[in-house]
Amino acid sequence: MPVPDAPEPLIFERSRPGRRALRLPEIDVPEPSRPEDDLPSGWLRARPPALPEVGEPEVVRHFTRLSRRNFAVDTGMYPLGSCTMKYNPKINDTLAGLDGFAGLHPSAPDALAQGALALLWELEQDLCRLTGMDAFSLQPAAGAHGELVGMLIASAYHRARGDSARRRVVVPDAAHGTNPASAAMAGFEVVEVGTDARGGIDLEQVRAHADGRLAALMLTNPNTLGLFEGEVREVAQVVHQAGGLLYYDGANLNAIVGRARPADMGFDVCHLNLHKTFSTPHGMGGPGAGPVGVTRRLSPYLPGPLVRRRDVPAVAGPRYAWDDPGPESIGRVRALHGNFGVLVRAYAYIRANGGSGLREVSGHAVLAANYLAALLRPWLPASHDRICMHEVVTDGRALAPHGLRALDLCKALLDRGFHAPTMYFPLIVPEALMFEPTETEPREAIEALAAAVGEIVALAERDPEAVRQAPTQTPVGRVDEASAARRPVLRWYPSEGDRAPEG
Ligand SMILES: Cc1ncc(COP(=O)(O)O)c(C=O)c1O
Repeated sequence: MPVPDAPEPLIFERSRPGRRALRLPEIDVPEPSRPEDDLPSGWLRARPPALPEVGEPEVVRHFTRLSRRNFAVDTGMYPLGSCTMKYNPKINDTLAGLDGFAGLHPSAPDALAQGALALLWELEQDLCRLTGMDAFSLQPAAGAHGELVGMLIASAYHRARGDSARRRVVVPDAAHGTNPASAAMAGFEVVEVGTDARGGIDLEQVRAHADGRLAALMLTNPNTLGLFEGEVREVAQVVHQAGGLLYYDGANLNAIVGRARPADMGFDVCHLNLHKTFSTPHGMGGPGAGPVGVTRRLSPYLPGPLVRRRDVPAVAGPRYAWDDPGPESIGRVRALHGNFGVLVRAYAYIRANGGSGLREVSGHAVLAANYLAALLRPWLPASHDRICMHEVVTDGRALAPHGLRALDLCKALLDRGFHAPTMYFPLIVPEALMFEPTETEPREAIEALAAAVGEIVALAERDPEAVRQAPTQTPVGRVDEASAARRPVLRWYPSEGDRAPEG
């Protein structure tokens, strides 16, 4: 658990003129040209950048101290539902750091990058096998980016068929906010449908929108309530009969990986968050990866370039090459070839576990979530009384009689060494708290988390103010969140005189 200590000054505040971590030798060869000679004068700085001047020990200590204030999967349990903060095996980092991968230039000729290209090709094949899709693009940099790509593919598909009236995308009210945002960014009109009493998409409302305007329906399965969409085949039938496409938001694949495949459920296009199911690190906005998979009829629209494999009789083994996609492709969606280091990590995870290992992953993830749900039930009942999948959404109104909210419980959990669960999502559950223990948490950790929740609820009954004051054991306590959001201080200025006028 982080221990409160003295505030850590910014590295800029530690700066003293003349201090250095490294002294470069004087250049002893003639300089061919100075950058100043080649750049337009308007691009040149009037004065050198105000970089911090510090010695090596100060740099190392500063960043080591900051790293110890972080909460991470490597330091404690991180039950952040919907985000799948699963353990990132260290072997993944070792492999991604191999010289042949980490030192490879993205523009290296294909002949010099055969190993990297083979890895990308095999990863695509693995993702096809795991989802039932026919082709994948590894380019998108995150789940939300994958959704946008999927929606652009849907748009291109309908346009190519001359079906320009299809401008509607149906999204359930439980969906992640990125779903409607991605559909809107791709130029679609978003139509929301509700959730039924069992926590699934309301099939009757889907039927009501199944007409010639329907371009696609976006569905997460299990959905964001952590519940399996048992009527997914019926949804697929309704959408397909109306001429629409079914989009799979694969953020929750961790619950079903190795057991069920989106294509078999009727999905036409999907994205996968490699930083969730396939254990690559969450960068909180990047670097992630959100590969997009499609069934055969949509493959001409995938973004490029794509890796192709050819068998060349003259050389032993296959050869790999980057290939431009065909004329119907939506084009390039990212510079170079995606987040390559992330793709290496996902490949390592898939190969290390194999098919049966991944099946075990989803089994343990679901078991852990249901065990936690059962332990939490006395204080935090699940939003729906059903077997959950890899995460459980609870109703946090138990604290309301003491004038406390779900947020207060989360803050108090930080004092007990746990990262908070996801709060207030999905929006349709009052005081929602969404817990996702993941497959790697041992039984004792799950029991300790539930015990901590019980302890906080008991404290709330005795002394609600003590819960309202939490956290008191973290480097930073309660902050003024409204001001932090509305008037964020994002830059440090050496003096007031350097501060740019607001606005
Ligand atoms: C259900 C769901 N869909 C989409 C996303 C977006 O994914 P990303 O954060 O990789 O952009 C998330 C992220 O948490 C999610 O939970």
